[in-house]
Amino acid sequence: MNNIPTVMILFGGSGDLAHRKIYPALFNLYRRNVIRDNFAVIGTARRPWSHEYLREQVAAAVHESIPDVDEAQLTEFAGHFYYQSHDVTNVEHYVTLKRLAQELDERYECGGNRIFYMAMAPSFFGTIAEHIADQHLTGSGFNRLVVEKPFGTDLASAEVLNRQIQSSFAEDQVFRIDHYLGKEMVQNILPLRFGNSLIKKVWNADMVKNVQVTLAERLGVEARGGYYDNSGALRDMVQNHILQIITLLAMPEPKDLSDKAIHAAKEDLLASLRVPGEQAVRDNFVRGQYLGTENTFEYVKEPNVAEDSKTETYVAGRVEFGRGPLAGVPIYFRTGKEMREKKTRVDLVLKNEPGLYGDKAQADTITIEIDPANQIYFRLNGKTIAGSDLRPEKLRYRFSENEQAEVPDGYERLIHDVFVNDSTNFTKWEELKRYWEFVDAIEAAWQEENAAGGKPVKYRPYCMGPDTSKIFADPKDGWIYQ
Ligand code: BG6
Repeated sequence: MNNIPTVMILFGGSGDLAHRKIYPALFNLYRRNVIRDNFAVIGTARRPWSHEYLREQVAAAVHESIPDVDEAQLTEFAGHFYYQSHDVTNVEHYVTLKRLAQELDERYECGGNRIFYMAMAPSFFGTIAEHIADQHLTGSGFNRLVVEKPFGTDLASAEVLNRQIQSSFAEDQVFRIDHYLGKEMVQNILPLRFGNSLIKKVWNADMVKNVQVTLAERLGVEARGGYYDNSGALRDMVQNHILQIITLLAMPEPKDLSDKAIHAAKEDLLASLRVPGEQAVRDNFVRGQYLGTENTFEYVKEPNVAEDSKTETYVAGRVEFGRGPLAGVPIYFRTGKEMREKKTRVDLVLKNEPGLYGDKAQADTITIEIDPANQIYFRLNGKTIAGSDLRPEKLRYRFSENEQAEVPDGYERLIHDVFVNDSTNFTKWEELKRYWEFVDAIEAAWQEENAAGGKPVKYRPYCMGPDTSKIFADPKDGWIYQ
């Protein structure tokens, strides 16, 4: 689809996310003609910027992310941006915003289509949603709402936010962003699982011993201590990214590839997500907090972090489902800040059948690397050249440099999907609800532990995190990626 007429209202127009991700993504969509003559973007934020200043910022943001920019095209693109200084709690400001949106709608012939994009402090999402409703900001064409994470801080607050949003938008108009769902290899999970009979046949509880999901980061909390200390790794990474990846790995085959069928299969699986009780949290989850080095702060010394903080910067745990092809199979996950290196990957470990080679044959594994490389590989047993001993070999499917360069940024993909009304790679309310139930149970158990003097284990930074051996159902198991 080309030249999709739209007025986009972006809450958080002066923010970091807009600068790093949204403006470059919109520019690429402009280059691809997805948006063209009939679009306008209203950037809003508190600062008193002018239209001209916003356009300069948009151009600078594009330059920072995209090489080889055609300057004339960029100037033309930036000319579609308008700035409206806006206090999200001031009702009057919505009246002004509505007037500007209508004026631009007429000027650019946008047919009353609106995309509202919430890309600012999440504590304001609900207020904005309510004012969109009570000041009737929606247009006479399509109306869509894009919401950044975090969607609430627990199930109760997510429910409140959802109700506020429902005052103007139906569920199928809401696009809850999880940028991991825009990543190439995350989008490759279903094709890999259901496009290959070889893999489809082994992807089940008879054949799979366990699944391991790792989202390791090299960076610490950096300048985000204020946010992070109220969130922690569980809410920051598990509630969304990790559980979405796990859902894609464990869901049953959808009826077809439509958005509806995919979400139906996800919901079917998630209805059987086993929510851990306190004892299971103690047994199957580990939380950690990073120490310092000569050159880096210990977590509790980071700016805007409480000195006695019990917030986890690392979490590992076990997930199980009662349904789906991997019903009963342990799915282990871990994520942490200040780990050895940036690595996002999934390892599927097959059961080792006793056979001719006995213990010499290592378990076969299927690895999907999501970051930093896009690759899939099988670890298989082969013969050493010199003798007849077995040795593990890798069978690899990896993008060439050219292919890698063609992979669009996750944001570009996801924003594109909003324009074409495809919500396959967004989080539906039913999914989110289950994720919060799971996370809330762990959080509640940790609060109990804290009250009794418990706290996260400290771990040495830039290594692989604390000891997690207790989470493995079989003590002989461990992480494939070490
Ligand atoms: C964000 C988290 O959702 O994902 C950050 O808030 C984290 O804490 C980031 O660093 C990781 O994303 P990516 O794409 O760099 O793996």
